[in-house]
Amino acid sequence: MNADPAKNPRLEQAEVSDEQLQRVHAILLREKPEPTEGYSPLPLMLLGLMSACILFSAVYLGRYSGGFDPLVYDERILPGMLEGGVPPAVQDPRVVGKRIFMSNCSACHQPSGQGIPGVYPPLAGSEWVQGPETRIIRIVLHGLSGPITVKGGQFNNAMTAFGPLLKDEQIAAVLTYIRSDWDNNAPPVSPDRVKEIRAAVADRTGPWTADELRQVP
Ligand code: HEC
Repeated sequence: MNADPAKNPRLEQAEVSDEQLQRVHAILLREKPEPTEGYSPLPLMLLGLMSACILFSAVYLGRYSGGFDPLVYDERILPGMLEGGVPPAVQDPRVVGKRIFMSNCSACHQPSGQGIPGVYPPLAGSEWVQGPETRIIRIVLHGLSGPITVKGGQFNNAMTAFGPLLKDEQIAAVLTYIRSDWDNNAPPVSPDRVKEIRAAVADRTGPWTADELRQVP
C-alpha cells in the first residue's frame, strides 16, 4: 500500500471537491445530445415483418394441420377435401399405433418391446400379446395387476388403465402395432372390436388380474 496521497491515485481522487465534480458533470451533460423523440422507421418495418410472419404461420397451420387430429394427420389434406367427397389418405394403423406406443407404453415396456426383467413384462414374443384380442383389449382398457407369467418370466406389478385416455381407434391401432412389430405375428385389432368390449365391460372399475383374463375366451 502506498500511503502518500500525492502518489496514490485512489487517495488523490478524494481531493476533488463535490462542487468540482458537479461542475464537470454539468458540462458533460450539456454536451450530450438530447434523446430524440418520435418513431424511427426501422422498428415499424420490423413490426410489419413479424406480423406478416405470424399471419403466414397461422394460415399455414390452419390449412395444413389436418385439424390437429392425431389419427388423420396428412399434410396434403386441404379443408375442402374432407367435405368434398375425396377420401383422406388412410394411415396404416401400425404407423399410428407405433406413435401411440412410443408416447404411452414405451416408458415401461421399452421401445424394443423387451420390458424390464422382473418389473415390466415384454411385449415382444409375448403369448399374451399374440393371444386372444379380448384379453389385451381389457388390459389396456382397465389395467392389470397381480401375478402374471410372460414368456416364462414372473411379474407381480401393476399397469395403469388407458380406457379413459385413448379412443377405441387408438387402442386398436396400438394393439395392432404391438401384434406386428418385433417379430410378433398376430392379426390386427379393429376399432369396432374395442368398442364392443368397452361396452360389454363398461361397469368394470378396477384392474384385471391374469387369472381372471385366462377365463375370458
Ligand atoms: C406404468 C408402466 C406401464 C405402462 C405405461 C404400460 N404398461 Fe403394460 N404392463 C405393465 C405391467 C407392470 C404389466 C404386468 C402387470 C402385472 O404384473 O400384473 C403390464 C402388462 C401388459 C400386457 C400383458 C403382459 C405382456 O407383457 O404381454 C400387455 C399386452 C400390455 N401391458 C400392453 C401395454 C400397452 C399396449 C400399453 C400402452 C397403451 C402399456 N402396456 C402401458 C406396465 C405398463
